[in-house]
Amino acid sequence: MIPARLRLGVNIDHVATIRNARGGDHPDPVRAAQIVAAVGGDGITAHLREDRRHIRDEDIARIQAATDLPLNFEMAAADEMVEFALRHKPHAACIVPERREERTTEGGLDAAGQHNRLAPIVSRLSDAGIRVSLFIAPEIRQLEAAMRLGAPVVEFHTGEYAHAEGEARAVELKRIADMAALAVVNGIEPHAGHGLTYDNVQPVAAIPQLAELNIGHYLIGEAIFTGLEHAVRRMRDLMDDAR
Ligand code: PXP
Repeated sequence: MIPARLRLGVNIDHVATIRNARGGDHPDPVRAAQIVAAVGGDGITAHLREDRRHIRDEDIARIQAATDLPLNFEMAAADEMVEFALRHKPHAACIVPERREERTTEGGLDAAGQHNRLAPIVSRLSDAGIRVSLFIAPEIRQLEAAMRLGAPVVEFHTGEYAHAEGEARAVELKRIADMAALAVVNGIEPHAGHGLTYDNVQPVAAIPQLAELNIGHYLIGEAIFTGLEHAVRRMRDLMDDAR
């Protein structure tokens, strides 16, 4: 099914990054979540990393209590995170690869190579009513692995697209578009995210099969200059204009 509206999930991790720089409680990611809700964002995304460098355990429950927006909980395929998700029951859990030394989530999850590790995690989360999404590269091998795992959602990593230029960017865009179409044919809802900005969002937003974009770092960065309300509204307008 082709979704009528492309949802915007706002990743508020980096509000917590700034808060943690001083060890206090300002700026509060909960306030960011409330602003996103007030300006028509469709969801909140937050990644509880193993090293707790930005979002902390208690932020998750506070975000859930403070807004009615669906929470997309990004998590590594680690036992600690599975237990955490089962306790907090977010609307969705997006399984991402995570290495302690990386600055951000640098590539997609190797769903193909890690089938046996991921299969029980996908089942346990799904059985608890959590919508599981796998953050994968837009590659057929990974999409087929997501199908075998029975994931209802995949999020395509748009980092390669965001970093590429010229012809190479067109190639990356086509990979995302082709995989989004194939996902839908196979009953999987495709999302996309990573590295999206005002300048590069529109070609991705124009891919008709995509149901959701998750955008964080750029929006929080722009919020410093223009405010979070304005940044979310502008991104929303660009997405709507692209469809
Ligand atoms: N989607 C997923 C699964 C992510 O892990 C991230 C953050 O790395 C994002 C979306 C948002 O990416 P960015 O902060 O570059 O917009």
